[in-house]
Amino acid sequence: MPKLNENYLNVQDSYLFAEIARRVKVYEENNPDKAGNIIRLGIGDVTRPLTKSAIDGLHKAVDEQAVSETFKGYGPEQGYVFVREAVSDYYKRNGVSVDPDAVFISDGAKSDTGNITELFAKDNVILVPDPVYPVYVDTNTMDGKKIIYMNGTEENNFLPMPDDSVKADIIYLCSPNNPTGACYSREQLKAWVDYALANEAVILFDSAYEAFVSEPELPRSIYEVEGAERCAIEFCSLSKTAGFTGTRFSYTVVPKELVFTVSDGRQLSLHDMWNRRQSTKFNGTPYIIQYAAAQVLTEQGMKECMGNISYYMENARVIAETLKKKNIPFTGGVNSPYIWFKCPNGMESWELFDYLLENIQVVGTPGAGFGVNGKNHFRLTSFGTHEKTKEAMERFDRLF
Ligand code: MLT
Repeated sequence: MPKLNENYLNVQDSYLFAEIARRVKVYEENNPDKAGNIIRLGIGDVTRPLTKSAIDGLHKAVDEQAVSETFKGYGPEQGYVFVREAVSDYYKRNGVSVDPDAVFISDGAKSDTGNITELFAKDNVILVPDPVYPVYVDTNTMDGKKIIYMNGTEENNFLPMPDDSVKADIIYLCSPNNPTGACYSREQLKAWVDYALANEAVILFDSAYEAFVSEPELPRSIYEVEGAERCAIEFCSLSKTAGFTGTRFSYTVVPKELVFTVSDGRQLSLHDMWNRRQSTKFNGTPYIIQYAAAQVLTEQGMKECMGNISYYMENARVIAETLKKKNIPFTGGVNSPYIWFKCPNGMESWELFDYLLENIQVVGTPGAGFGVNGKNHFRLTSFGTHEKTKEAMERFDRLF
């Protein structure tokens, strides 16, 4: 009989967004007359089609695969040089220097933030904000690692800061934050980098929502802070930036400076370990997608993406206006596609989830799914259409 990984007993039966989908399906089956009325503002899934640069790139790469002269089989596991250079150029246009050799192409920040835990031993002290994107917690729990939480609360604007009395080895940060939409300032990120350098810790920085930062003084990459290349890995994705949730493309920067001494005194490089891990377990993102991503990462490609992002941010404005009108406290929606608000009338978040689904057929994400500090909060996404978002908030306005 196989001995199973019993750490799986310590995670919820299903992943947060799978659980939401399950509950909505049950509701649809029990209420077929209301099923068509449902507005989904739960999972952060985009609704705008791919941009022209992405589509042209996809078509061109498909055509290349149709002729033997340009056909491509296995690609380099780390990603084609042309797309790693496109990522590096994108950083450069934002004032950040990233070596293309430090860039690893993948199919999603979810996969990479989940898989990176394999590089670290079980007895690390892992520091995770609460509330937080559930992947960081679930993957470490599945791996039997112990997590210490730092509280994100209204008092600290959901932006926990380092506590010198806690000695962490690995720190997860996400800014702009999923789920709260809060965004660290440069000074705050510097405090984290200083803490990591002083404690020889590694920061796993998720910047999947960087393109939504609208206030120019806010950092979009941890590498905007000096010294971060000596303590941080950054994960980013085109899922939200370019609407690639179904197309799949992400990049992870593992600087070559991240070298640590192991128990027998030898040195191990996280860059080399990640390369070894990826080349063993992953055969790369499809060439067609990498080619399209490289077009998206050009100046013109990004200009088109910003058109879609403005569209979504108009939804964020509509959601925020309604919450303001109702005097419901919230964060996010300015530098992030998410709006995180306090559940009205003292409700708990799963209670509000059911209440909204039953009464106005609006689906959101209960804050409790992101940690105990989310128990009385709720997340709405601005990735819907204008029409559906407006309709959802009109229904919300009538309900409260
Ligand atoms: C979310 O809704 O939090 C995200 O869409 C999930 C993800 O990016 O995996």
